[in-house]
Order: sequence, then C-alpha cells, then structure tokens
Amino acid sequence: MNVSFFDDHPEPADIRAEVLAGLTQPEKRIPPKFFYDEQGSRLFDAICELPEYYPTRTEIGLLRQYGAEMAELLGHDVVLIELGSGSSLKIRTLLAALRPRVYIPVDISREHLLRSAEGLAAAFPDIEVRAACADYSRPFSLPLQADDQPRAAFFPGSSVGNFEPPDAEAFLHRVGTLLGPGGHLLIGVDLRKSEDLLHAAYNDAQGITAAFNLNLLTRINRELEGTFDPAAFHHSAFFNPHDSRMEMHLVSNAPQQVLVAGETFRFSEGESIHTECSYKYSVKDFHALAERAGFKPVRVWTDDQQLFSVHGLRRGDD
Ligand code: TRP
Repeated sequence: MNVSFFDDHPEPADIRAEVLAGLTQPEKRIPPKFFYDEQGSRLFDAICELPEYYPTRTEIGLLRQYGAEMAELLGHDVVLIELGSGSSLKIRTLLAALRPRVYIPVDISREHLLRSAEGLAAAFPDIEVRAACADYSRPFSLPLQADDQPRAAFFPGSSVGNFEPPDAEAFLHRVGTLLGPGGHLLIGVDLRKSEDLLHAAYNDAQGITAAFNLNLLTRINRELEGTFDPAAFHHSAFFNPHDSRMEMHLVSNAPQQVLVAGETFRFSEGESIHTECSYKYSVKDFHALAERAGFKPVRVWTDDQQLFSVHGLRRGDD
C-alpha cells in the first residue's frame, strides 16, 4: 500500500511540562491538543455527528457543493498537506476532485492517524500518502522533499479558532513558509452567530461534549499519575462576546486537592481549568488576520445561513 509514516510526536516529558505549567497559572489551563488521545479522538468524532454541532456538517456541505471550485483554486497535481486530519472524512470529498500527487495528513493522535491514512491509501491507490504525527501548534517538521512543488494546505474544522489570535497569526505565517510563495491554503472558519446556536453546539443534550472535556482528566490520571475524580468536576461552555469566543472549562464541584506528576494542586468550589477557546470570526476579521500573516484572500464560500465559512487564501510572493 502506498502509505509511509513519519513521527514527530511530542514526548511524554513535553506533556508533563505543559500540563504542570498550565495548572500552575493563576487561572488554571490545559492546552486543547491534549484532548486527542484514543478515547478523545473517538469522542470528538461523535461530537462531529451530533445534531447540535453544526460546524462539521456545514463544512462538509460546502466541500460537497463547491469542491470542484476549491480544487481548481488549490491547483491539480499538488502536494496536499492536511493539518489536524483526524479521521480524514472531509478530505475524501476534496481528494476526488483534486487528485493530488502526494497527500500528507498531519495529526497529533498517532493510532487514529495511521488507521485513517491506511483507509485513505486503499481508497485512493494513485495518491502517495505520507502520514505525519506532529503537534502543529509548535514548529514541526514534515516529510517534504525539495521537489514537492507546488504545495497546498487544507486546515478544516475551524481549528484555527482554537488558537489565541496572535498565535493563529504566527501559525498561519508558519504554514505560509511551508507552502512557499504562491502556495494556497483552504481553511474552514466558524462564523460568529446567535448565542443560542453556539451554546447548543457546545452543550449537547446527550452529554458527549461533557464526556470529551472530562476525558482530559482521565488521560492525565493515566499518563501523569493524576488523582482527578472526573465526577468531582463538570463541563461548562459559554460564549464570551467581548472576545468573540466560546470558552470551555472544567469546573470543580467542591474544594479539593489533586496530585499530578507528584505535585499538589488545590481547587476552590467553582474554580475552573480552562481547556479550550473557540474563536468565532466575521469574514472581514478573518481576512484581516490572514493578511497580517502574509496571505491574500482569494475566495470565500459560506452556507445560506452564514453558519460557517471556507476561505481560499494565497500566500503572497514577498
Ligand atoms: N475544535 C473544536 C471546536 O472548537 C473542538 C470542540 C468541539 C471542543 N466541542 C468542544 C473542545 C467542547 C472542548 C469542548 O469546535
């Protein structure tokens, strides 16, 4: 099968250092990339199928409807890099239209990545698949060769909204460097909308989002000798209009003490660990961000209800 594997996975020591540093802050936080262990990746796939979670199905709808135009913009015969490929569902719609020479799915969840890369290589035998396990929130290396030109990137799911805006800008800048002058980026960006719709999307009736958020504590218990009782915390998600972002927290139900990697952390009742932000952009604000990162907006596709946007951006020549 035409699939190879490249590993730039974060070390367990990195996870320990990042989690301890986050829990030591005056406002405790844990980076969202640690959601995606095996169980977390599975729960996230389940979130994507929830009736309340509009982003995934709206973005897939846009890819189905405008896939040919998007492929035209990215250019045929490219080396296509997908950041945060997860289960690689969205890319299937694009690959059929695009037919890249090489497809490089990048994800932090190793087993999940390998399984979906193999499935994809079997479905598209003409495409060379180079799976790369890496943490794209930091500088990372990819299995690229000098003659892998032209390059294009796909960054779906509004994951760009999970970065703080200055970090989003720095990240897009790094993607631009990876692509080279004239390279194209196709990026999904969730739009600002009514608080009711946002609230429902992050507080589903079945409690899958809550389970996904709380799984972080189970993972820390397993990998960092933690003593969290997940039942002593609850999921909280709300829209912060001032910063135009959803905030996800794990809130302590009572005063308590927890050990992580030999260190003690105290929680008061109602104190939270901030686990994720999901920024919601207007088209105009996202264009401004992309331009600051060295990209020119070329096209934007949105659904009729203006729930979600997919942007086609071109890296400038300078
Ligand atoms: N990247 C997703 C988003 O921002 C992740 C996500 C969905 C998420 N639901 C969540 C993260 C609930 C934490 C809690 O939409």
